[in-house]
Amino acid sequence: MAGRYDVIVLGAGAAGMMCAIRAGQRGRSVLVLDHAAAPGEKIRISGGGRCNFTNIHAGPKNFLSANPHFAKSALARFTPQDFIAMVERHGIAWHEKTLGQLFCDDSAKDIIRMLMDEMRAAGAQLRLRTEIGDIEQSAGGYRVSTSEGAFEASSLVVATGGKSIPKMGATGFAYRIAEQFGLPLVETRPGLVPLTLDPQLLQRLAPLSGIAAPAEIRHGKTSFREALLFTHRGLSGPAILQISSYWREGEDITVVIEPDIDILALLKKAKHANGRQSAQTALAEILPKRLAQHVVESEGISGNMADLSDKRLQQLAAAIQAWSVKPSGSEGYRTAEVTLGGIDTACLDSRTMQARAIPGLFFIGECVDVTGWLGGYNFQWAWASGHVAGEAA
Ligand code: FDA
Repeated sequence: MAGRYDVIVLGAGAAGMMCAIRAGQRGRSVLVLDHAAAPGEKIRISGGGRCNFTNIHAGPKNFLSANPHFAKSALARFTPQDFIAMVERHGIAWHEKTLGQLFCDDSAKDIIRMLMDEMRAAGAQLRLRTEIGDIEQSAGGYRVSTSEGAFEASSLVVATGGKSIPKMGATGFAYRIAEQFGLPLVETRPGLVPLTLDPQLLQRLAPLSGIAAPAEIRHGKTSFREALLFTHRGLSGPAILQISSYWREGEDITVVIEPDIDILALLKKAKHANGRQSAQTALAEILPKRLAQHVVESEGISGNMADLSDKRLQQLAAAIQAWSVKPSGSEGYRTAEVTLGGIDTACLDSRTMQARAIPGLFFIGECVDVTGWLGGYNFQWAWASGHVAGEAA
């Protein structure tokens, strides 16, 4: 036996490190195991290298889960303000970018350094490059076999994340542990992911690749207003990533470009003010030139505004502000920021993240069926679920 601890945490990501900090502060002996060469790799690349570490508006409404109430307890017990307080104690400069999203002024590495310093101060040990093998229940709690020997602890916290970005070491390992212990899973799928289009539509939209515009994307009763980006694979940008978590294969989404502008009213006004200008010229006042040209051409419109009936103007406006499109799929886990679904919250205690039927076994972070919107919410869930598990493990 290589060592005995009070708590073993599997995964040195956002949730695992936060849990180790809190458990260590309580005087528990803690070992964190990770197969990666460095801790917090997703933190490092997050937010374009500046880590959108929380969102000051984070609340249960910003999360998807089969049980929308589950996240309430943890989110209330470790709030964005609690994380901001830690960031400030470590002298890390930050700013609000937009919509309550907080970023480091300098580098996401500052957040990793902070978590490592806190872990060290709390006496938690970290072992990297450690392959995890069998996990068994033992007289002392849990026995974890690894490439570095076996470790035992009375509490085992699973914080190995989801399936997103396999190239960065995501394995879906947590789901296998859940299955081993007979815990139910909610079907997993990629979230916060660009959507793809079928080859024919993609070919028609090819000239738009690289264009961004403010948009509202609607799916059923859900809608998001942020930027839309046309790419060489389909549709991306924050508004699309947000709606992707709600969208299912075979369903349509509605795209409203420039949602703050009444384009039909504007076209009518332009027609009366200057009937000799083309629709393309009038639209280019509001839309990127290439987009204006594309819409006008694909609606088969030519000639002067004066020649266009109100019905034609309506069709043109609808092509821009009521574009119904059926994505062919998503870019999948290769580029998805998160994994939807995961360990069914019905089997976890929301105050502690402990499996109700299996004392000492905890699941936290992305592997649990709680997924946040884009904008710092997923880290807030990682911090909050990690913290409450650290209080109990
Ligand atoms: P996380 O994935 O962070 O950590 C899991 C750890 O477990 C890793 O260290 C991994 O190496 C380890 N592990 C996995 N399998 C293992 C195994 N079999 N054996 C041993 N160790 C194993 N969110 C946000 O709020 N703001 C943002 O700015 C961003 N930006 C962002 C950018 C990109 C490109 C991605 C992919 C994701 C984001 N996110 C984000 C989402 C955020 O990164 C994510 O929700 C959290 O990292 C989840 O934290 P966890 O600790 O649960 O998993």
